[in-house]
Amino acid sequence: MLRRPRPPLWVCLLLLPLPLPLPHLGAAGDRGDARRWEEADEPGSAWAWRGLRRLQERLRTAGALSRRYWALFSCRVWPDDCEEREAAAAGPPGWSLPLLGQQYLDILTTWYCSFQGCCDSGDCRISNNVTGLELDLRERLHGQHVAQKLVLTTVRGYLETPQPDKALGLSFHGWSGTGKNFVARMLAENLYRDGLRSDCVRMFIATLHFPHPKYVDEYKDLLTSQIWKTKQLCHQTLFIFDEAEKLHLGLLEVLGPHLEPRAPEGHRARHPRTIFLFLSNLGGSIINEVVLKLLKAGWSREEITMEQLEPHLQAELVKTTDSGFGHSQLVKKNLIDLFVPFLPLEYRHVRLCARDAFLSQGLLHTEAVLDEIARMMVYVPKEEQLFSSQGCKSVSQRINYFLP
Ligand SMILES: *[C@@H]1O[C@H](CO)[C@@H](O)[C@H](O)[C@H]1NC(C)=O
Repeated sequence: MLRRPRPPLWVCLLLLPLPLPLPHLGAAGDRGDARRWEEADEPGSAWAWRGLRRLQERLRTAGALSRRYWALFSCRVWPDDCEEREAAAAGPPGWSLPLLGQQYLDILTTWYCSFQGCCDSGDCRISNNVTGLELDLRERLHGQHVAQKLVLTTVRGYLETPQPDKALGLSFHGWSGTGKNFVARMLAENLYRDGLRSDCVRMFIATLHFPHPKYVDEYKDLLTSQIWKTKQLCHQTLFIFDEAEKLHLGLLEVLGPHLEPRAPEGHRARHPRTIFLFLSNLGGSIINEVVLKLLKAGWSREEITMEQLEPHLQAELVKTTDSGFGHSQLVKKNLIDLFVPFLPLEYRHVRLCARDAFLSQGLLHTEAVLDEIARMMVYVPKEEQLFSSQGCKSVSQRINYFLP
């Protein structure tokens, strides 16, 4: 088992001067203390010696108390070493932690744990809740049986690999509104305590973060330094690139080295894990075409497999000329581990999205209202009217029309 990180010296220093012991030292009951302290200050008086003795005694008790606080604090933060520390810093007989001290201890523990590791995983910021991810993919993602299974097995496998020799690269493809962003957020939320706001997670949106091609050199430096910084902060990181089809080729090439397999690094205590997610609408149309063809040939949607879609998707990526993605080293050198197709959504899926939107806001709905919302979407192709052209996008806003 990994040993938890030791506190830096400054944390110890910060703890020692806790001003708590003094107010309750007199709890044993010597009233009139203040007066005698004043008397002790009179030079040459008989009280002086007794005053000094008393002061020494107090300091000793205060010291023991600080050690006691330290022991309690470290027990909370590093429970592994608790027993030895407890024994080493046993308090004076009959000693109990005053209420105020207890509160200080809580505040201090919360504060320390907010930036340091106090959890079983060794780092509280990383939650790796695979059960939660499985549940979310099953319950909250609609119409994506292929993505659901692929994402879960791949991510779970990667997190369970003791010494991964490369970063995991996943590329999500599909029309807008099919759930690519939704799944990216599920990953962030289940793998990290603070989700997308985590120190360990960075999301880049091509048109927002890298809008002007003429600044590509600055963007490259920026991106490289952000990736290094995040990796230094965290031993498990997640980088999300939204609108990956709009990323400049130069930026994609900067990512190459981060996705290449690493040489084995011997027995390091911690092997860093990195997940790269690329979200794009590349190949969305070819996925739709293949799905439509299969449905018309009598297949049920749930029978459609990755094997039927992947070759078309790959061929389409390489063929596309208005995006650098398919021509980057990431694709050419097989640095992307998995291409995940998101299927076009049908009427019944849009209905489910509408139902979820009502439920998530704690609002009541009727079946008729769900139908009305689903009917508001535009369905394509013209003839079959099978797929929602916007997927589930903006469904949650549409429920507003039906609120009393
Ligand atoms: C994992 O997620 C599930 C579902 O969201 C939740 O009920 C459970 O408490 C989580 N487990 C941990 C250890 O956070």
